[in-house]
Amino acid sequence: FDTAGFQADLINWFYQEQRQLPWREDKDPYKVWVSEIMLQQTKVDTVIPYFQRFMKKFPTLDDLAEADEQEVLKAWEGLGYYSRARNLQNAVKEVAASYDSKVPENANQLGALKGVGPYTKGAILSIAYDQPEPAVDGNVMRVLSRVLSIDEDIAKPKTRKTFESAVKAIISHEDPSAFNQGLMELGAIVCTPTTPSCMLCPVQSHCRAFAEGIQQDLPVKTKA
Ligand code: ADE
Repeated sequence: FDTAGFQADLINWFYQEQRQLPWREDKDPYKVWVSEIMLQQTKVDTVIPYFQRFMKKFPTLDDLAEADEQEVLKAWEGLGYYSRARNLQNAVKEVAASYDSKVPENANQLGALKGVGPYTKGAILSIAYDQPEPAVDGNVMRVLSRVLSIDEDIAKPKTRKTFESAVKAIISHEDPSAFNQGLMELGAIVCTPTTPSCMLCPVQSHCRAFAEGIQQDLPVKTKA
């Protein structure tokens, strides 16, 4: 596998083609955190206006830490999965109290916060802090199942670890943020679940599934 070529083609494409999204305007770890929590069970188009309103209301981590819980829940109304909002505020309070209001750059400290699972942790460390850590969600598993021809069942919880190992082996250490966001973006707009746009794909030449003509058969996903 041509890791350097894959990295370069993915990252260059990301800088050319990425959508301008409000949480991409700066690398404030607080904003990255809020956006990744919102994006976990909700589509990008739905999240955009919520994210913008949320940042007007709670522009900094301290604003959110000090806010009335009812105000936070009100700002979340319509996004659903309200435990996300409660956990987020709980964790933000912990950061304010224990880490001088600075989102930890340490993986263990970050991962110990309420609601910060492996995906959110990796997204914050790579996007905000440029650390070469995996951030594996469904999009990323779909893309890499095809590029690397991995046929493990992505419905199985332990499969995420396989993909985390794969990302660790190929992630760019020069620009882990663009690498991880490039994988997410490729999954969102090119390497889609059904009928992926392989003819437009920046990493077509690196893709094992395309070479074998099996892109439609991956990822393997059993029903629950
Ligand atoms: N889905 C999850 N994280 C995302 C991000 N940072 N940008 C776009 N879509 C995403």
